[in-house]
Amino acid sequence: MACVLGISAHYHDAAAALVVDGRVVAAIQEERLSRIKNDPGLPIAAALACLQFAGIDPGAVDALAFYEEPFAKLERVLVHLLRNLPRTWRLFPRALASQLGSKIWVLDHLSEATGVPRGRVLTCEHHHSHAASAFLVSPYDDAAVLVVDGVGEAHSTTLWHGQGGALRLLASVDFPHSLGLLYAGLTAWLGFPVNEGEYKVMGLAAWGRPHLRDEFSKIVTLHPDGAYELELGCFAHMSDAELGFGPGLERILGPRRPPGRPWDLDDPADRRYADVAATLQAVLEDALLGLAQRARALTGSHNLCLAGGVALNARANARLRREAGFARVFVQPAAGDAGGALGAALIAAQRLGDPRPSALLSAALGLPIDAARGHDVARALGLSVRRLDDPATTTARLIAEDRIVAHARGRFEWGPRALGQRSLLARPRDRNIRERMNRLIKQREPFRPFAPAVLSESTAEYFAADADDMSPFMTTVAPVLDTKRERLAAVTHEDGSARLQTVEATRAPELHAVLTALAAAGEDPIALNTSFNGAGEPIVASSEDALAFFLRHNIDALILEDLLIERPK
Ligand SMILES: [Fe+2]
Repeated sequence: MACVLGISAHYHDAAAALVVDGRVVAAIQEERLSRIKNDPGLPIAAALACLQFAGIDPGAVDALAFYEEPFAKLERVLVHLLRNLPRTWRLFPRALASQLGSKIWVLDHLSEATGVPRGRVLTCEHHHSHAASAFLVSPYDDAAVLVVDGVGEAHSTTLWHGQGGALRLLASVDFPHSLGLLYAGLTAWLGFPVNEGEYKVMGLAAWGRPHLRDEFSKIVTLHPDGAYELELGCFAHMSDAELGFGPGLERILGPRRPPGRPWDLDDPADRRYADVAATLQAVLEDALLGLAQRARALTGSHNLCLAGGVALNARANARLRREAGFARVFVQPAAGDAGGALGAALIAAQRLGDPRPSALLSAALGLPIDAARGHDVARALGLSVRRLDDPATTTARLIAEDRIVAHARGRFEWGPRALGQRSLLARPRDRNIRERMNRLIKQREPFRPFAPAVLSESTAEYFAADADDMSPFMTTVAPVLDTKRERLAAVTHEDGSARLQTVEATRAPELHAVLTALAAAGEDPIALNTSFNGAGEPIVASSEDALAFFLRHNIDALILEDLLIERPK
């Protein structure tokens, strides 16, 4: 039996995960502790927090597993730069400084900073880490595994067959061709920050029409066997462009959208940008469908696991579930690079002889709330603090009164989604709540939807779907029933869909209790659920973070474990 720490870092969303005796004990993204959104730095605070939570001394760690091979990655970067001279000459100094400055010494740095002896530090392959992060905690004994991201060492897309505890690589697409980099290039062209704005592109897609197929056929070619090729002149990784995309893209699609300009979807120019987002979404879905069908044919499996940053595209996941021929689809909540930490830990634990863990039920793998500390700080700040016998019933009452409730209970979530442990909750009915939420807190673009959390057993009463293996982690979408759109106006997207979370008592007990109390009060068993953070901030972690947010933003009430915190009357 072993104690293994997994680490991902140096790209975006650095994270640490702790697996003890084949059990996932803790998993934390560094941003939640450093308070730097998408923090890519070495996740030392997260690693030490995982160990401290479990009461384990760094000297007792049997292996520290890094989620990729630093030297293989360096080789890919160098070969690429050399092969593509002189186009890449301006990238050279920056790339070398970044690789040689710290990245290739990452294993030494990790050992020094965590106190885990250097001899116990090992590496896994990037896509293998992604594949393990999905399959090894999935509910399936046999599954096809599709990993799609920007790039790891060399692979940007891989197909695997998972059987029992083993993963076998069946096929790959390699850098510079990459669906992740396709999406990143278009994200930049649409004026959003790469590695952050991808969700916005997905939200924007619902407002457009996917009629720019001819243009896109010049940007990416999809082959019938699932393989694909990018037109490399359109992308920044093949040129010295600073824009995040190559000059070819503007020749095909026209000038980029200026970053930061406010969106107006009544303006024909912005409508066309929405059409580009919609066409990108359609092309991405077609590419993924081709890959998934190939995976189905190669493995004969009825189950599909998805990983890599592209697996955070909930719309594409829903389409794969409907059309790729699999009976069940699973996406681990931290499907992006953060998830690599979990995968690396699971691979190392297996190498040390530990059994495969049981299926991951809950994303509540972070640190708990220190309510006693929250109580003292809130009192010191002059806030009204009341201890509740039944926090769920009070939360439901406040929601039913159309108030916005900040809800921090239990351990914070693993992955980019708030799933009830660190959520802002509101009544899903009134469209105005969206404007209020945006004005007070989120400052989001007008095209971005809010999502519903629904009591699992009531799913089919409101959505044209049942709870599946993805909906508990909010990694899929479903159509809202026509008859319910009016009463779910605040959480129904422009195209009639919603990125729903189905809530079970075993997975998210605190949120389940709130929805149950809503139903008991005669309300729909549904809450608008959005992450407990302001624009550009990481989701809150501690009671201090929650209180600081409460003071900054004009929300109505804060539930901190069994405490109700309000402004003094
Ligand atoms: Fe990745």
